[in-house]
Amino acid sequence: MPYSIDDLKDRLARFSRLDLADLPTPLDTCPRLTEALGGPRIYVKREDQTGLAFGGNKVREFEYSVAPAVDEDYDTLLHGAASQSNQSRLTAAVAAKLGKRCVMLGRRDDHADPVQGNLLLTHLFGADVRLIDSPVEKERIVESLTSEGRKVYNTSFDGYYLRSVSYVDGFIELYQQLQERQIEPDAIYVCSGVHTHVGLVVGAKALGVDVRILGVSPSPRDNAEKNAELADVANEVCRMMELDLAFTSDDIETYGEYAGGGYGITTDAGLEAVQLCARSEGLLLDPVYSGKAFSGLVDHIGKGMWKEGDSVVFVHTGGTPALFAYSQ
Ligand SMILES: Cc1ncc(COP(=O)(O)O)c(C=O)c1O
Repeated sequence: MPYSIDDLKDRLARFSRLDLADLPTPLDTCPRLTEALGGPRIYVKREDQTGLAFGGNKVREFEYSVAPAVDEDYDTLLHGAASQSNQSRLTAAVAAKLGKRCVMLGRRDDHADPVQGNLLLTHLFGADVRLIDSPVEKERIVESLTSEGRKVYNTSFDGYYLRSVSYVDGFIELYQQLQERQIEPDAIYVCSGVHTHVGLVVGAKALGVDVRILGVSPSPRDNAEKNAELADVANEVCRMMELDLAFTSDDIETYGEYAGGGYGITTDAGLEAVQLCARSEGLLLDPVYSGKAFSGLVDHIGKGMWKEGDSVVFVHTGGTPALFAYSQ
């Protein structure tokens, strides 16, 4: 028996939650994009419009995953990833909003110079930005912060599963919008890191909604391995929410084949998708995540997976500030 929306909301209410995002995010109809693709009706769930600091999926995720840092009086939020990390930008913005310090340990990669896009914004939010060349250097900095007596909350690892919990809530929000507008989607596409995808899949199964959820990876991955990894995360989310559901890799559908040469390396199809959305709807995607994800959808439509009369929702997870660092 599926769970009701009210029951799921009660379970979500047991978690501590910050108020960071402008919710609900819009669900846009995209007639010109639909026409340009010559196939299914396309709707875009605007998670890029979560409000804070140019938005994105991390704002919704951090409502749950950063709440323990407030409850347990951490003084510093830390994040380390690519120089154009959206998560670093939003870690810095949330730290500013919460009155906490922020340290960003960014990689000194090809998009760190000139200081643009997400990196520029991370500086602007007052983060202590340190660009580093090796994981050893990262460990050393974290150790020295702790030995100075700082209580450091790493937004990559701390509250990890809570990030997926947040997208169970995201699924409920989307489902209610679809119901109000009497839209029955045949498929939901999302850029699949881990959490947005897992949260949507758990939300759909918990509510008994029969829809394919297809996740397109931003970096090349073995799909079977990734499906198994995400199923494990989904099972942990069920444990935390006390949901009597079990996931196997058969419940997860990911596509690593649209990621091209690697994380952060653009693909021609991804850039074409960015241009297509910009020129048909004035809709901004990004070159690292949502552009690649949308290129997967375009390819699937080209292969006849979705046709006229079908409805497809694309969950836009954000990332648009990276556009400025990829001007070349
Ligand atoms: C724009 C964008 N989309 C998708 C993702 C994947 O995120 P998650 O694993 O939290 O769903 C990220 C992660 O950094 C991102 O910045």
